[in-house]
Amino acid sequence: MEDDLQDPEQQTLPLKFGNFYLFDLIGKGGMAEVFLAKSYTSIGVERLCAIKRILPFLSADGNFSNLFIQEAKLAAKLRNANIVQVLDLGRIDDQLYIAMEYVEGFDLNELLGLCTRHKVMLPFEFAFFIIRETLRSLDYAHRSSDDDGSLLGVIHMDLSPSNVLISTEGEIKLCDFGIARAVLSEEESASCPEEAIQGKFAYMSPEQVRGHEVDQRSDVFSAGILLWELLSGKRLYKCSDMDETYAKAMKAEIPELANRSIPEFDKTRDIVNRALEVNPDDRFQSAYEFLREIDDYIHQARMLPSQMRFADFLMDNFGDDLIAKRRERERALARVIPEAGEEPPDTEDSVTEVEPVESTGAEKKKDTELSAEDAIRDLNRKLSIYAGIGASMLLTIIALIIIIYFTN
Ligand SMILES: Nc1ncnc2c1ncn2[C@@H]1O[C@H](COP(=O)(O)OP(=O)(O)OP(=O)(O)O)[C@@H](O)[C@H]1O
Ligand SMILES: [Mg+2]
Repeated sequence: MEDDLQDPEQQTLPLKFGNFYLFDLIGKGGMAEVFLAKSYTSIGVERLCAIKRILPFLSADGNFSNLFIQEAKLAAKLRNANIVQVLDLGRIDDQLYIAMEYVEGFDLNELLGLCTRHKVMLPFEFAFFIIRETLRSLDYAHRSSDDDGSLLGVIHMDLSPSNVLISTEGEIKLCDFGIARAVLSEEESASCPEEAIQGKFAYMSPEQVRGHEVDQRSDVFSAGILLWELLSGKRLYKCSDMDETYAKAMKAEIPELANRSIPEFDKTRDIVNRALEVNPDDRFQSAYEFLREIDDYIHQARMLPSQMRFADFLMDNFGDDLIAKRRERERALARVIPEAGEEPPDTEDSVTEVEPVESTGAEKKKDTELSAEDAIRDLNRKLSIYAGIGASMLLTIIALIIIIYFTN
């Protein structure tokens, strides 16, 4: 168990973690690992979720833990279709974790990688759609208040492509609200390794990089960077190391947006420039103001982006990748799904008795573990064999009738 905690890449899955079974490593950032997991209630109800498990060196840090819990508690109060729902928050085996809704699909980083690999340009209407939905979730979060009506004061602070999740249904859902604050707090950033902070600078507002007090307009700037990158098809700050990114993000010198046949280009450029003003007072003052401009622009440019059309675009272009991902998930899941009537996992015991599998997800599926798709394919194969046999029998009968007719 100790080894598992120390070297997450080497751990074997499925792994019991409190009431959860972790059975596939989805990804790893600088501060945590994210697993596909199943949770079980005492009466055996099971639910698919994602577990973000904070790395041991950060979980063990008192200051970090306090800030992390404080921010994650606020994020757990957010309920919005464009925000990944936090389901649970706690500490198991000395490791802090957040259980959240599992979003099947890609993050924005992966989507852009797929576009490059398949040589597909992300249509402008979907670039605006992604930003519009992102701004909707920011607007909701910034305006959210507690039961007593007091403002929660949530700021995302880490709005980067890996925190913009895209579901197979074409939904856009933001995750990791506020929790970067714990990593970036002054005392912590001194003790945090580079990889926990690296990558965050590239999407930060200049005031955040400088360590000044930030408000919701800092998220407006980060959303502006996302828009700039989606419309330009490249990174805003191309840097080889963290120091260079830090220096560039501090200056925030934004290259003029190139006109790549973007509809109503002048209007688009004005919107991007306004979102990326260095001085927060010159920027859109809220996500709502930015959202209104994007919405007006979409109408003006006669674009009709919708979740359904975006889902179709994803399926048409990356359907194979999505199916491959789902197959991988099914294979991992097949290892831990208890048979009907079987006892749910015992929550007392931290050692799993489930047959272990390496976390690479590369394990080949056994012939006996047929998924629904396999079963359909198998059925189709059988039907075509039966149809073939039927057709040849029919031909034989017709031939016999002809022979009998002519011999008479
Ligand atoms: N709820 C979720 N459902 C599906 N995938 C998720 C979920 N949360 C995170 N992921 C995936 O897990 C990966 C790792 O997430 P993590 O937050 O640890 O790293 P990061 O986003 O790269 O860094 P950070 O958030 O610290 O800036 C992400 O890239 C994302 O694709
Ligand atoms: Mg993240």
